Amino acid sequence: MKVLGIDTSCDETSVALVEGNHVIKSVVQGQTALHQPFGGVVPEIAARAHVQRMIPALDEVLAAGDPDAIAVTNRPGLIGPLLVGLSAAKSLAYVRDLPIVAVHHLEAHVAASYLLDPAPQPPFLALIASGGHSLLYEVPVRGKYVRLGGTIDDAAGECFDKVAAMLGLPYPGGPSVQKAAEAGDPQAFDLPRPLKHEKNDDFSFSGLKTAVLYKIKGKNVGRSGPDLADVPVADLAASAQEAIADVLTFKAIRACQRRGIKQLVLGGGVAANARLRELATERGTAAGLTVYIPPKAYCTDNAAMIAARGRELLDEGRRDDLDLDADPYAD
Ligand code: KG4
Ligand code: ZN
Repeated sequence: MKVLGIDTSCDETSVALVEGNHVIKSVVQGQTALHQPFGGVVPEIAARAHVQRMIPALDEVLAAGDPDAIAVTNRPGLIGPLLVGLSAAKSLAYVRDLPIVAVHHLEAHVAASYLLDPAPQPPFLALIASGGHSLLYEVPVRGKYVRLGGTIDDAAGECFDKVAAMLGLPYPGGPSVQKAAEAGDPQAFDLPRPLKHEKNDDFSFSGLKTAVLYKIKGKNVGRSGPDLADVPVADLAASAQEAIADVLTFKAIRACQRRGIKQLVLGGGVAANARLRELATERGTAAGLTVYIPPKAYCTDNAAMIAARGRELLDEGRRDDLDLDADPYAD
């Protein structure tokens, strides 16, 4: 069965055609240049760009084959962008008389791992770290996603983005921090590891962000104050990256150990981070886990993962109606 996936939850116009774990065609049209002047995604600009890019992206993917079903992100995300993808998906389902299923974007980040060969088989635990969420999911059986914990304030990706902005590094922040960190010492600054040793499976990154701010501006100066002289950008980037990767991997592995789960899956844009990938593999392997990390292109937003999650729902017999709604919230 060939499934056409569509994702427009944020600032990537993504369309893909997937059969089993084979990606026949994947188009991801980013909008970095449009949002760069604002230092973050502007929802209305994103929605307008999706409108312009959706039909060309669909044409390109449909030229690679005819889908048997359509999977589309309807939650969570920016409401304007979500509606563009949903309208495209419904129209195509209607004119081609194809089944349509609505997909939860974060569950799809887990399903990106189903495109791997071999793919993880439940039971497994998934750490999903993206721009808006840092989540631990338990997948006890195929198709069941149990949320164990999540961020109580800033997400890991948001922390990367804000650290980049404070350090004067270019948007988008995550890849910039990673690049700057290459020349830095991850032990140079002793930054906090919020909630690391708390018993829960939650995350918190706002305190880490504030700690970085203090290193740049001095205490109690505020974001608009002048930077201290000679801020060691590479060392601070490396230390912040290390703190984020440390907390995420530590808590994910501990959650596996507590539940006797032997497989750990990573996903979401932050899972494209080289240090997080390295540390998760190193620590996971040392703890006797098999660690699954999709290629970077399927960690950041893409529609192949939407098709992968959609396929799972279709196999369960799920079909949605054309009056399907978009929902900005995760639950
Ligand atoms: O999953 P994603 O593409 O979109 C959302 O669903 O949010 O994640 C985007 C986030 C951004 O915060 C971005 O800075 C971060 O993923 N990111 C990275 C890297 N690549 C993307 N963070 C750290 N290192 C990277 N290499
Ligand atoms: Zn995402």
